[in-house]
Amino acid sequence: MRILLVGPAGSGKTHLASQVARALDLPFSFNSLSAGCTESHIIGRVLPDEAGNWTYRPSPFVRAYRDGGVHLFDEIDAADPNLLVLINAALANGHLCVPFADMPPIKRHERAVIIAAANTFGHGADVQYVGRNQLDAATLDRFAVSTVFVDYDRDMEKALVRGILSGDEADGLLEWAWGVREVIREHRLRRIMSTRTILNSARLIAADEALETIRQRYFTSWSDDERRLVR
Ligand SMILES: Nc1ncnc2c1ncn2[C@@H]1O[C@H](COP(=O)(O)OP(=O)(O)OP(=O)(O)O)[C@@H](O)[C@H]1O
Ligand SMILES: [Mg+2]
Repeated sequence: MRILLVGPAGSGKTHLASQVARALDLPFSFNSLSAGCTESHIIGRVLPDEAGNWTYRPSPFVRAYRDGGVHLFDEIDAADPNLLVLINAALANGHLCVPFADMPPIKRHERAVIIAAANTFGHGADVQYVGRNQLDAATLDRFAVSTVFVDYDRDMEKALVRGILSGDEADGLLEWAWGVREVIREHRLRRIMSTRTILNSARLIAADEALETIRQRYFTSWSDDERRLVR
């Protein structure tokens, strides 16, 4: 099974993947696919063992693929698109070849769940997510009918904030944050009001920080024109 979660920063994609592992009672592993990610991070490497013999050491992905588990390819849209071609067969055809390991292709375990997460749909960087790449069409095709948009979820945010703050404090924070988010959407500002920011703010308020102080800090990097839109 494979799925691609796409959504704005801090909407819960990484967290969701770990929850899937917990719900399925499977081990969870992940790679963040930055530009420095190499083939060995994905399919493992050959290293000398205690006796000095060169032996194949599987990566976390290979262990999940071979033995069962949930593996997250996080920030997949930041990966080198050519690197991902390495796992195209593994994603779609049920076997993974490790060319230097001198062994037959590894068969996919029936309880191997592969989740990818991204801020974009893999069509290249945009004005917000500037460190993203255009992914190879063949890689994206693996997720053509298994791409899910993970947007901010008000019900979830309300439940999480109410778990941290009392009713009035929670409502005050949420009203402010959701209002800012609406302004960002309406005016297409290059700003983000994420679930992550809301939860971090709730924790600060629980530690006796005033909402007004948090607001001032949040807007520190905003221009005067942008601030005027929120008033
Ligand atoms: N269902 C949830 N229960 C508890 N906390 C959650 C839940 N969903 C999200 N969070 C919290 O919200 C924050 C943002 O979630 P997460 O890091 O998964 O976002 P993301 O979509 O992966 O963001 P990015 O695109 O920046 O990587 C985290 O602090 C996470 O713990
Ligand atoms: Mg994430």
